[in-house]
Amino acid sequence: MKNNMIEEIEKYARENDIPIMQKDGIDFMCNYIKEHGVKSILEIGTAIGYSSIKMALVNDNISVVTVERDEERYNEAIKNINKFGLEDRIKVHLCDALDFKIDEKFDLIFIDAAKAQYIKFFEKYKVNLNKNGVIISDNLLFHGFVENIEQVRSKNLRQLVKKLIKYRKFLEENTEFKTTFYEIGDGIAVSKKEE
Ligand SMILES: C[S@@+](CC[C@H](N)C(=O)[O-])C[C@H]1O[C@@H](n2cnc3c(N)ncnc32)[C@H](O)[C@@H]1O
Repeated sequence: MKNNMIEEIEKYARENDIPIMQKDGIDFMCNYIKEHGVKSILEIGTAIGYSSIKMALVNDNISVVTVERDEERYNEAIKNINKFGLEDRIKVHLCDALDFKIDEKFDLIFIDAAKAQYIKFFEKYKVNLNKNGVIISDNLLFHGFVENIEQVRSKNLRQLVKKLIKYRKFLEENTEFKTTFYEIGDGIAVSKKEE
């Protein structure tokens, strides 16, 4: 039953060009959550609620706060979350994540929104991490463009790829956090605060 409902969200995303996490990427996230006993998650970039629902379904102790700036996607996310009866554990906020204010601390912060703003998201939300918490970012490979920028013809797309290359360098050179990169899904980075 739940599997059918998940497949329906995947189908809706395909048919309406909504970018949601790739299957192996979200499986990696769910395994990470399970293995590390993650209980609280802040997600930047809800889209239609796919990843927040998948993460909340790992077990009943998990709560998710998630932020989306697009009203249509926000409404679709609310609808999907209600269908799963997860409205008590997934709180969606309609606003720009760069303006969103929250004091709460989280075990995991998941960055999956505007790629050009990843460094800003990272810097803004790192104070919201619990001790031993991690920041996970998606799209580090960006469909393989990051490693083959010379093949990118569109100027706008090249600008975006350059921003992701800059973000990768920012993570590699960051002395506050140690980052491990995984070539899974669209490229995942797990950043853990140095002791
Ligand atoms: C890749 S999608 C998120 C996919 C979702 N995490 C999933 O896997 O189901 C990125 C979403 O972030 C939203 N977004 C982009 N920049 C944002 C910002 N500054 N604040 C809030 N949402 C943003 C976009 O509207 C889009 O729906």
